[in-house]
Amino acid sequence: MPHLLIESPQLPPLPAEVEGVKFLFKAGEMIGVESGNYRYFLKLIPKGENRYLLKYEKKTRPLLKELKKGYLAFLQLTGAQIIRENISGIKEKPLSPYLKKIEEDFSDIDIVEIGFGTGRHLIHLAREYPEKTILGVEIYNPAIEQVLRRVKVEGISNIRVINYDARLLLSRIPSNRLEAIYLHFPVPWDDKPHRRVINRPFLNEVFRSLKVGGIFHLRTDSENYFRYTLEQLLTYPRIEFQTRKNFNYKTISKYEERWKKLGKSIFDIIISNWEESPPNRQQWEFEFEERLCNWSFKPLVYDRFVIHIEKVYPMEGGGELVQGSIGAFDRVERVFIINKEKPYYFRPPAPIEENFLAHQELKRVFRCR
Ligand SMILES: C[S@@+](CC[C@H](N)C(=O)[O-])C[C@H]1O[C@@H](n2cnc3c(N)ncnc32)[C@H](O)[C@@H]1O
Repeated sequence: MPHLLIESPQLPPLPAEVEGVKFLFKAGEMIGVESGNYRYFLKLIPKGENRYLLKYEKKTRPLLKELKKGYLAFLQLTGAQIIRENISGIKEKPLSPYLKKIEEDFSDIDIVEIGFGTGRHLIHLAREYPEKTILGVEIYNPAIEQVLRRVKVEGISNIRVINYDARLLLSRIPSNRLEAIYLHFPVPWDDKPHRRVINRPFLNEVFRSLKVGGIFHLRTDSENYFRYTLEQLLTYPRIEFQTRKNFNYKTISKYEERWKKLGKSIFDIIISNWEESPPNRQQWEFEFEERLCNWSFKPLVYDRFVIHIEKVYPMEGGGELVQGSIGAFDRVERVFIINKEKPYYFRPPAPIEENFLAHQELKRVFRCR
């Protein structure tokens, strides 16, 4: 973790700017920084005898290059002396241009694969459909890094990858867009069914994002998961799907190889979407109309989201910096609210419905009147 131990910083009143780095405000140990397109926090933590540890807040960390620039600007601004540092030796792995972020646009995606693991099928799809853009969704970082390495080495240009929970990601895809969604060998979660990728809201999103004639392909070794999915599907008033048992498929994943050796059966469900869906909402306004009050630090748990206010720092010069976590259970996000006459998020939450619902509720619960 890149940080510095410094001595005698003399922080002038903020805001102040050095070499294009803006130091916006100080609230407790937190210093709000803006540089280029980044907003992040530096933390100035007292270590006794006029010494301070200067580090960054993890959830808002910018690229290392920006962070180093921020540290240097801070030293220049405050005239602090370095006692010890570990930033010079740290190098950052370059970011792949194919790694997507949730706030980006997804309207060019044609095919989605959920939980691609080693990426065998994802890469196969990219080769089979060179004119299509294929998005791989995974929550396991090593799998993402491995696929991005292969994409680079093999010069594949039509794969995009995102580290996100697939149950939330689909809401970013415009309606009637996708030609196919693949879910191969999902974790069956027999002991914790609420963690399964397939559930009714997820299936609704599958139908919404598929174009008419588009398909959703579940392939699983778990008869239980197969039956569970069938049950979910049969609750729809009108639906078209095909089931298969022990049919070969054009690729064999690592998991399939293993199950086949063990003599397990493999099940497929292939659903075709027959219905056009209304457009979905892509823009969410995370705005506040008035100052917030009455903070309570107990997590508030709702059906689809949680709200947890963690810390409130008084800001020098008035107002509060409020640190909290909001959003879907499987993807709670750290947020910072600058609570002044017209409050705002230091960085807006990801544009997904669960975050918006949590935001609305947060405004209601912490109204001043
Ligand atoms: C059993 S592996 C199967 C991997 C690959 N599809 C195959 O057939 O070899 C399940 C994969 O799904 C990923 N996964 C689990 N839950 C997920 C979720 N909610 N969203 C995206 N990926 C998920 C896991 O990280 C894991 O890589």
